[in-house]
Amino acid sequence: MSFPEDEAAHGPGIRPGTCLVRAGRRAEWTGTPGHPGAVVNPPVWRASTHLYPDMAALRDHPANEDGRFYYGRRGAPTQWALADALTALEPGATGTVLYPSGVAAIAGVLLTVLRPGDVLLMTDNAYEPSRIMARGLLHDFGVETRWFDPCDVAAFEAAICPRTRAALLESPGSLTMEVQDVPALAAAARAKGVVTVLDNTWASPLGFPALAHGTDISVMSLTKHVSGHSDCMMGSASAGVDWYRKLRLRAQGLGNVVSPDDAALMLRGLRTMKVRLDAETTSALAIAQWLEPRPEIACVLCPMLPGAPGHDLWRRDFTGGCGLFSFVLKGGTTDARDALIDALSLFGIGYSWGGFESLATPVDPAGIRTASRWPLPGMDPADRFGVRLSIGLEDTADLIGDLERGLAAWSAAT
Ligand SMILES: Cc1ncc(COP(=O)(O)O)c(C=O)c1O
Repeated sequence: MSFPEDEAAHGPGIRPGTCLVRAGRRAEWTGTPGHPGAVVNPPVWRASTHLYPDMAALRDHPANEDGRFYYGRRGAPTQWALADALTALEPGATGTVLYPSGVAAIAGVLLTVLRPGDVLLMTDNAYEPSRIMARGLLHDFGVETRWFDPCDVAAFEAAICPRTRAALLESPGSLTMEVQDVPALAAAARAKGVVTVLDNTWASPLGFPALAHGTDISVMSLTKHVSGHSDCMMGSASAGVDWYRKLRLRAQGLGNVVSPDDAALMLRGLRTMKVRLDAETTSALAIAQWLEPRPEIACVLCPMLPGAPGHDLWRRDFTGGCGLFSFVLKGGTTDARDALIDALSLFGIGYSWGGFESLATPVDPAGIRTASRWPLPGMDPADRFGVRLSIGLEDTADLIGDLERGLAAWSAAT
């Protein structure tokens, strides 16, 4: 949804933390404070049919405009409020389109930007379903995807050909945590008329204002940090005026709509996102620092950790982090890593991240990559068993104790 600039939500002097609290709470949706019936949150507005007062009103319905009641597929105030809040958070965005999941957002964006015959450049560390989408959906749609080393700006530039229409970036990569030089990649792409789409789920605009760093479209899986409670799925794409209009029309054409109940859950999560991210970042950094000198550990892949791969770019470009990072074990076997993860009692075993609860999953990108290597450059080829941690809101010392038990199980099995 796109609305006129809202001074109260993100006017001059309003910082992101304050914006998170105020954004999307327009008086036309919550009532005017001080008047009877005013509420804090936009109510859950459940509707497929919107009723018109008479035939003249139905015929006279304004063309496809944001913030107008029409029919449920175009949403109602609860979904509009969430989109409005996400737009307020992303400097440079005119509007935000909501999708039923993060993957649906990536697909919706790529199906807007690309045409049959185009080439898409995709970062080699992309989330695996993005790769699967390239090989399946986009291939069937007549788009050729070529992968590039996430950290090699020169190779990216050289890979741009006359048919290259778009580039999909993901920084940090959500398994292996490479931090991309997004401003340089976006500038190289723009100079050759290539549209850049960033999967910005890891940092969110709180930690990395993607459009301000030169990208054209910023995508998030709201399932992660925005929900924050592992009970709801959704995705978003925020962009400036031209791409926003096109994304919106394509999403309508694909029949995308999100439920108002889910939008309300996302709005609830959004209000506390900054405190959760700050707490998870502090805890993740402490855990990364504890892991680093351990004899079982070959490498900690945590951009917030001084000296870790990508830390310099992270410090240059990011204003925040999150609880998601990985580490690589020294040598070992799959069975030993299974023993480590199975020995953890505070970390759940399951996909996703960004929830209040900690999770651990194995990292095995070797069979997925085509343009860059795993183990990462500089790492011993024998050190290839990775573990990804999503640090939640438990006490840091308890999580460290749990990892200590996990590493003991790993040592016993190695
Ligand atoms: C980096 C990244 N992007 C996108 C997605 C997809 O999000 P969703 O699960 O909401 O479809 C994920 C999910 O794990 C992810 O890690």
